[in-house]
Amino acid sequence: MPRVYQPTDYVVEKSLLPSFEKYKEMHKQSLDDPEKFWSQIASEFDWQTPAQPGKFVSYNFDLNKGNIFVKWMEGAVTNICFNLLDRNVRNGHGEKIAYYWEGNHPDDYSRITYRKLMDLVCQFSNALKDNGVGKGDRVSLYMPMILETVVCMLACARIGAIHSVVFAGFSSDSLAERMASCKAKVLVTADGGWRGEKLLVLKNTCDEAMQKAQAKHNHKVDKCIVVSHLKRVTPCGKLPDDISSLYKWTEDRDVWWHDIMEGQSTFCPPEWMGAEEPLFMLYTSGSTGKPKGVLHTTAGYLLYAATTFRYVFDYRDKDVYWCTADVGWITGHTYVVYAPLANAATSVLFEGTPFYPDNDRYWAVVEKCKVSQFYTAPTAIRTLTKFGEEPVKRHDLKSLRVLGSVGEPINPEAWLWYYNLVGNGRCSIADTFWQTETGGHVITSLPGATPMKPGAAGFPFFGVEPTLLDESGALIEGPGEGYLVFSRPWPGIMRTLWGDHDRYEQVYFSKFPGYYCTGDGARRDEDGFLWVTGRIDDMLNVSGHLMSTSEVEGVLTEHPHVAEAAVVSKPHPIKGEALYCFVVLVDGVELDAALLDALRKLVRARIGAFGVPDTVQYAPGLPKTRSGKIMRRVLRKVAVGDRDVGDVSTLAEPAVVEQLFNNRP
Ligand code: WT7
Repeated sequence: MPRVYQPTDYVVEKSLLPSFEKYKEMHKQSLDDPEKFWSQIASEFDWQTPAQPGKFVSYNFDLNKGNIFVKWMEGAVTNICFNLLDRNVRNGHGEKIAYYWEGNHPDDYSRITYRKLMDLVCQFSNALKDNGVGKGDRVSLYMPMILETVVCMLACARIGAIHSVVFAGFSSDSLAERMASCKAKVLVTADGGWRGEKLLVLKNTCDEAMQKAQAKHNHKVDKCIVVSHLKRVTPCGKLPDDISSLYKWTEDRDVWWHDIMEGQSTFCPPEWMGAEEPLFMLYTSGSTGKPKGVLHTTAGYLLYAATTFRYVFDYRDKDVYWCTADVGWITGHTYVVYAPLANAATSVLFEGTPFYPDNDRYWAVVEKCKVSQFYTAPTAIRTLTKFGEEPVKRHDLKSLRVLGSVGEPINPEAWLWYYNLVGNGRCSIADTFWQTETGGHVITSLPGATPMKPGAAGFPFFGVEPTLLDESGALIEGPGEGYLVFSRPWPGIMRTLWGDHDRYEQVYFSKFPGYYCTGDGARRDEDGFLWVTGRIDDMLNVSGHLMSTSEVEGVLTEHPHVAEAAVVSKPHPIKGEALYCFVVLVDGVELDAALLDALRKLVRARIGAFGVPDTVQYAPGLPKTRSGKIMRRVLRKVAVGDRDVGDVSTLAEPAVVEQLFNNRP
């Protein structure tokens, strides 16, 4: 039986929500009367036009009844950037620090107040307008973790442009596909940045991507705005004397950030947006390979981001909050940018890695900035446990109160290390389950309110009604395990997939009519805790990066020597899951070192470095059913070397299983 951890007095004393009873009461209120619950929160924000009474939420989750839709605060008009900046400045937070920026090198750091951030955002809003960007236009970002990234996202929000941030670890192919898919008018990037001692020439990748967008997808990006970042930071590795020799410059298309900012006014009236008008889109992997442009809208996202931040991190004025996620992922959107600013919080924005200049960097920054809430991923924690206790103990971490975890289920061993060593046994851990699609946390513990079990995500957030269903769609009540679905919308849920509402309905709402299907499995234990057990579709989660098996299979079969490929996940001690690939080769070809290398490079080029497979195994054939469906269940057993494969009577050629076991590298 896993031990139950209660919040300590240290946490409870300062908590906004200091008891489990209070949580249950509020959760009930949020479900009984959503309009009352959320309109109370909405009243803290600024609205040009308030929501119409009785129209606070409307939705359809049932395909049998017509199209799927979700609307919150229909008729209301606002601007999210205005609420994050102007409203906070007006409320006396102008001189408050919005971000402490910590660079890759410890000598590089800065800070910015709410007022200064507002000025820069207004200036860049004007610069975007000068470059032809207006309401509804798409702006792609391919950026390091620097202040300009936040400025650019908020400037888009201010003028009603839709930002589409692409994680700067994606390859030029991936960036090209994403820019073409949303028809981005402008791309914003930096010349480059450092990750530890590694130089990333982002502008180069962008050049390739813009060229490919045109050649392969017939899409032309009008402008590329480039932040000159390399010159102002400490070089952490080899760098040529002339930085501009690292990339090309295309006149008329490429412009420097500092040039277009020059002389811009710090006044820019916000574009007033309807509650359901788009705020941003963010691509996430889909199980058919083609990325899905998840679309979030204005009012509901604001309410949900603001509220989850407040309660899940138990943020109090004067706290310093740090989320280590990259802005290229949803965690960076909601919990580095929108949610902390909506709460006038002070955050750390970190460009570096946990391992540079030494493996204590996280703890050094926690000590330096007196961080009270620290939010990171299980894969980072597992990697850091390898270096032992000393790098943690080198630092004074007594400022910490809440520790967050996100991206995948956290294994109890990592949880205990985080709790006992980093949190010194007195901080609460919020294991936050959510998705790009959910916009914010949906299942989590709350620091002062809910008990914790290592490895369990915990309880539904306000407005969230989780349900477990079995394969036939029957409700699982009480303890049990099944598909994790949601029976009603909370304000932050996605509204559609960019340009493909049909796919949205198919992917999320067709399996169980009436429910949003997460694609994850979950277990409810006898105490009501929810444990997310992982993906039940053909997706895998490598170091918190969600990928689809078919996406990788598609890349592998691009190689002329690969006839067929099947990809499964294999448990990995650090990454959570790793890619294990089976390749059937064309006649006369061998899986030698050169081919292996070529396949790895191909995946790196098409997807990005994080997608490179750990194992590629030669397969004389694949285990398929007579209808031709690959039995991945069997391949997963081969990957881990477990000969207990279960029933294979439906296989067309059962002999192949034995061969696969014998061929394991
Ligand atoms: C998938 C969503 C949401 C931020 C980062 C990932 C898995 C995420 C947890 C958690 C168990 C988790 C799920 C989910 N996941 N957080 N705390 N416990 N699983 O966003 O790329 O959209 O991935 O990540 O499988 O469906 P994403």
